[in-house]
Amino acid sequence: MPTKDALLEQLKEAKESWISGETLAAGLMVSRSAVWKQVRALQDEGYLIESSTKKGYRLRKRSELLLPAEIRDGLRTALFGQERIDYFPRIDSTNIRARMIAAEGAPEGSVVVAEEQLQGKGRRGRVWFSPAGEGIYCSVILRPRIPPYDAPQLVLASAVAAAETLLGHTALPVAIKWPNDILVSGRKIAGILTEMSVDMDRIDYVIIGLGLNVNTPAENLPPEIAGIATSLRAETGQTISRAALLRTYLEKLEGLYALFQERNFEPIRERWLDLAKIIGRQVKIAGVETTYEGEVVDIDPNGFLILKSADGTTQRILAGDVSLIGDCS
Ligand code: BTN
Repeated sequence: MPTKDALLEQLKEAKESWISGETLAAGLMVSRSAVWKQVRALQDEGYLIESSTKKGYRLRKRSELLLPAEIRDGLRTALFGQERIDYFPRIDSTNIRARMIAAEGAPEGSVVVAEEQLQGKGRRGRVWFSPAGEGIYCSVILRPRIPPYDAPQLVLASAVAAAETLLGHTALPVAIKWPNDILVSGRKIAGILTEMSVDMDRIDYVIIGLGLNVNTPAENLPPEIAGIATSLRAETGQTISRAALLRTYLEKLEGLYALFQERNFEPIRERWLDLAKIIGRQVKIAGVETTYEGEVVDIDPNGFLILKSADGTTQRILAGDVSLIGDCS
């Protein structure tokens, strides 16, 4: 373990009590000036560490950045986020980076996370608003052994993970909008962009990219999305720990992925339906070229939406933008 991480562990273990520079240096098997250097590095990362010539050092406050050490602290997963978390203060897009490292062989469960994205990608070529330090911008690499045709099932599983994360941390009325937008009171709070690489008829990797608006004040939402988007802070008036939310999300995602591998899609489909409350609703779906209109009658075992038109015909739809007829969302 790098000296900085070992030092942080010792400071955390001491729970705000002082530890002398000498004790730290002996435990880490480095010089006292090396300890000081690493303390400075931790302070630069946002840890509030007090120092006293007599007493040594003590940790007063953790960093609020989404640093790997903060994400992993208390993370109850077997795989996701355990082996590899690539952290960036600023990046073009975590999905772009995740695709790059996946193509280079990064293992399943690797995570890319950033404080800010300069080219955050939304679905259908849109831009994802990604202000520094306010949201969760995270991409997870999966390497499922399923046919590419079944990949939409994972898209729905990731939406369940995100929705259940919010339900676990707040009392907000969270709902999924097909396929994987997360809404609170009709406004979008999170979105998921899944991207896949297929090699012949085998999936090489799937990237699950989550964007979650956490601590953006309502007045900072840009005017073009202010009417349709929201954040946890705007809804609750509170600042919420992004690391705690991200841990829950990784735990839920890993749990649902394991469930999917053990028992296929059906239990996930049921949880998705419960959170989406879309069956029986009249909707309009804007696809790439066509707009469909009708009643949602089911999500089929492959994860496609089944729509019944007024003329009685049914369509299986893989992707599109849904609006509920007779509702502003
Ligand atoms: C949507 O349009 O609803 C999907 C938004 C997905 C945004 C996330 S932020 C992390 C990851 N990296 C990206 O560039 N996009 C996804």
